[in-house]
Amino acid sequence: MALTIFILQLAVRILACPLYLLNFLGLWKGICKKCFFPFFLVRCTATYNKQMASHKRELFSSLQEHASPSGELSLLELGCGTGANFKFYPPGCRVTCVDPNPNFEKFLIKSIAENRHVQFERFVVAAGEDMHPVADGSMDVVVCTLVLCSVENQERILQEVRRVLRPRKMSSDNQWSADEDEGQFSRLIRKSRDSPFVPVGIAGFMTVVSYGLYKLKNRRNQKMSIHLIHMRVAAQGFVVGAVTLGVLYSMYKDYIRPRFFNVSKK
Ligand SMILES: C[S@@+](CC[C@H](N)C(=O)[O-])C[C@H]1O[C@@H](n2cnc3c(N)ncnc32)[C@H](O)[C@@H]1O
Repeated sequence: MALTIFILQLAVRILACPLYLLNFLGLWKGICKKCFFPFFLVRCTATYNKQMASHKRELFSSLQEHASPSGELSLLELGCGTGANFKFYPPGCRVTCVDPNPNFEKFLIKSIAENRHVQFERFVVAAGEDMHPVADGSMDVVVCTLVLCSVENQERILQEVRRVLRPRKMSSDNQWSADEDEGQFSRLIRKSRDSPFVPVGIAGFMTVVSYGLYKLKNRRNQKMSIHLIHMRVAAQGFVVGAVTLGVLYSMYKDYIRPRFFNVSKK
């Protein structure tokens, strides 16, 4: 037995010799990533999907239960490869794909064309350890098959998965329940915390309008129409200013801070 294992190991090493050489010369990663792996995967996937079809169908049959209150299902496929799982997703599902290998794109496009029942959103070229182009709490489901065994930092990936998933809370019977269970007031607080410039804009608008109306009586000899125009311009200016600051703040939070200050989005 030991001799058989030794002979088999030796045979594998001899067969893999050219790969070791390419790796030693620093060429393997490029060749493997660009040429070999996507073509290899697309061939393997067809066979693998045939073998696994019933399991995948069962595994993905409950996806729609995780749809948002509006009924839409936003799904992120992490390490999407050639898009092998698309055909198992429910109709209308909005799919965002993440993979660090840009060479999968043409296979993805083919898979999208073959699976018109899903709604393809975008292909993000990124490693799962840093999916900063994907916003916090924007996904109902994250799918990841045959990926975590070959990544550099599983813990970091799971943190990122948690970040992009829509927050849910545990109900008393230990079932995950969607955030529609959240009370109106706490939802308002959470949304205000996420986009603070919206309540600031509304509060500023109300203040300017109230002050304008209060001053209406004491406007001395100013014409009513002029007074109302001034009030409207001031209120509008406040709202536009708050919206602009909100957009700049989101850009900073989503793109600049994670990229340049190495801080995960909150
Ligand atoms: C074996 S393939 C699986 C593809 C697909 N999920 C499937 O089930 O057919 C592994 C995929 O994970 C991707 N991958 C490798 N490292 C990754 C990482 N750090 N983050 C996300 N994806 C990664 C690879 O580019 C490749 O597409």
